[in-house]
Amino acid sequence: MKKKFLPPPYPYEQLDEFRVLAEALPGGAVDLSIGTPCDPVPEVIRKAISSETSLDSARPYPSSVGSDDFLRAVSEWLNQCLRVEIPETSIGACIGTKEIVTGLPAVLKLRDPVKDTVLYPAVSYPSYSMGAQLANCRSVAVPVDENWRIDLSQIDAKDIEKAICLWVNSPGNPAGAIEDLGRIADWGMANGVTILSDECYVEYTWSTSPKSVLQNSKEGVLAIHSLSKRSNLAGMRVGFYAGDAELVSYLREVRKHQGFMLSGPAQNAGIAALSDQQHVDQQRQLYLGRLSKLMAIFESLGIETAMPEGSFYLWIAAPDDEWQLVENLAKNLGMVVTPGEFFGEGGKGYIRVAAVATDDRIELLEQRARV
Ligand SMILES: Cc1ncc(COP(=O)(O)O)c(C=O)c1O
Repeated sequence: MKKKFLPPPYPYEQLDEFRVLAEALPGGAVDLSIGTPCDPVPEVIRKAISSETSLDSARPYPSSVGSDDFLRAVSEWLNQCLRVEIPETSIGACIGTKEIVTGLPAVLKLRDPVKDTVLYPAVSYPSYSMGAQLANCRSVAVPVDENWRIDLSQIDAKDIEKAICLWVNSPGNPAGAIEDLGRIADWGMANGVTILSDECYVEYTWSTSPKSVLQNSKEGVLAIHSLSKRSNLAGMRVGFYAGDAELVSYLREVRKHQGFMLSGPAQNAGIAALSDQQHVDQQRQLYLGRLSKLMAIFESLGIETAMPEGSFYLWIAAPDDEWQLVENLAKNLGMVVTPGEFFGEGGKGYIRVAAVATDDRIELLEQRARV
């Protein structure tokens, strides 16, 4: 008999004791645990949110698929930023992306009830595994290599046969690795496994131009994008998915029945955000600067760091016990960070530091580290 599902403790709530320790320092805690934006919503988006059009759009039920204007803005952004041509019929809106990440396995399983397995990188965003559990599927962690990239050669043939999907995340959370998405798309096609590519950090890529699975294939793949990080809009919940025409068409239909609708004002905010690149360029510079400053702080403590290939996280090997390092950073520097085991067993021995504090807060950390 299957076990009853009991929601596990929410990971970030387990850090409350370290927040209390950090808060006790004069000047308070500098919370670098959750990857939430710390900079203002860009002016161009603020204007769009408070416009008459936006306010009026709060009255009727919004289109679940996304308004024509929203889908056009997405299609144009995909073309300009990622150099891919995706018709508006192969795009749909989502309410931020965590909802679709945790919800996809259930609706994919309905299409092919014989399959019951969700594959995802062993060190990754915990919601991939949670989505599998919520769908009553088997969640199978695929080992990652020494550069934190998914190692497809390690997947058992039986798991491939039963796989509903394979998740990839590039640049990856927590380690910032950039995947070879062409190879992964080919693997998916060869094995009949749908590739779900979470690309929410695509514009925070430091070593190459933005890479999307859609640049390699439009069949058997779904790219998932969020404006939370790109445009400091985590509270507005704007995201979209694009890719395989048949899969998108299925999702668009099923999501109408599920009642998933991105609010009218959120769609307006999304259109404004996607039509402006300047704020993203500025935000990139801010994160890059903060990553460097945080690296210098860790180096001054004798802890080695490296610039990630992408994302705004430092993924740092703890010299000793990772929980001890989490505690010491909270107690001595007022810095709250995430223990690596939140991202899977393979993350043990590491910490993740999100560069999501404003420059004055990072200066406070620099001062504390000098004492
Ligand atoms: C890898 C990854 N995917 C998806 C999300 C969800 O972002 P949102 O729901 O704000 O779009 C996050 C948020 O931290 C993330 O790190």
